[in-house]
Amino acid sequence: MSTLVGEGLTKTYGSGHTAVTAVADFDIALEAGEVVVLLGPSGSGKTTLISLLAGLLRPTAGTVRLNGEVFRADDPRAPTLRLRHVGFAFQTFNLLPTLSVLDNVALPLRLGGERRKPARRTAAQWLDAVGLDNRSTNYPRHLSGGEQQRVSLARALVGQPDIVLADEPTASLDTRTGAEITDLLTELTRQNHQACLIVTHDSRLADAADRLIHMNDGRQADPVASG
Ligand SMILES: Nc1ncnc2c1ncn2[C@@H]1O[C@H](COP(=O)(O)OP(=O)(O)O)[C@@H](O)[C@H]1O
Ligand SMILES: [Mg+2]
Repeated sequence: MSTLVGEGLTKTYGSGHTAVTAVADFDIALEAGEVVVLLGPSGSGKTTLISLLAGLLRPTAGTVRLNGEVFRADDPRAPTLRLRHVGFAFQTFNLLPTLSVLDNVALPLRLGGERRKPARRTAAQWLDAVGLDNRSTNYPRHLSGGEQQRVSLARALVGQPDIVLADEPTASLDTRTGAEITDLLTELTRQNHQACLIVTHDSRLADAADRLIHMNDGRQADPVASG
């Protein structure tokens, strides 16, 4: 059984002559321990697809299955399921500026109802795993972009989700730092037997993939045809 499956996913924004179909009849299945890189140019529908898979956006058509069960964005249990099963990393890191590095990482556990002390203890272990154990009392503004992305990886992984979804995780970083972040993300998710989906416009990330998918105009594309 695949960890996360999208079947016939379609998303149309707006209606009438202004309608834009961002994702069109897209099938995708993510397996535990596997890194999938989805490569597509800007505007090809990557963020929309990841939002559909995460249950953050309701598809116009199609179904998402999480560990075999239908996962609907409008299900009242969706936020809890997402918190428990899905970790996120973003291009802009999305750290909370008013929380320390340690508390940013602990946040998913705190939202899941864990007490402060054990949540912080687990968070400290993940900060260690991303090489930032010495930064726990700093605030995000004290960190470089690469460090902030490491914190955001620790936060994505702290709850040991089944799936990690990364939207352009290297797009704000220089080449070398981006490569380090990609290595760290893929090593940790493989070690922890998680399904990992990285969506990006950067073809340099292709090497990180166990499986590469190309996307163009909302559809799976032939890599030759899409260049
Ligand atoms: N909230 C929205 N409302 C209307 N159109 C949108 C919205 N979000 C994205 N789009 C359009 O959908 C298409 C795909 O966008 P997006 O999923 O952000 O692609 P990517 O992440 O690959 O750049 C683009 O044409 C974009 O303009
Ligand atoms: Mg995007």
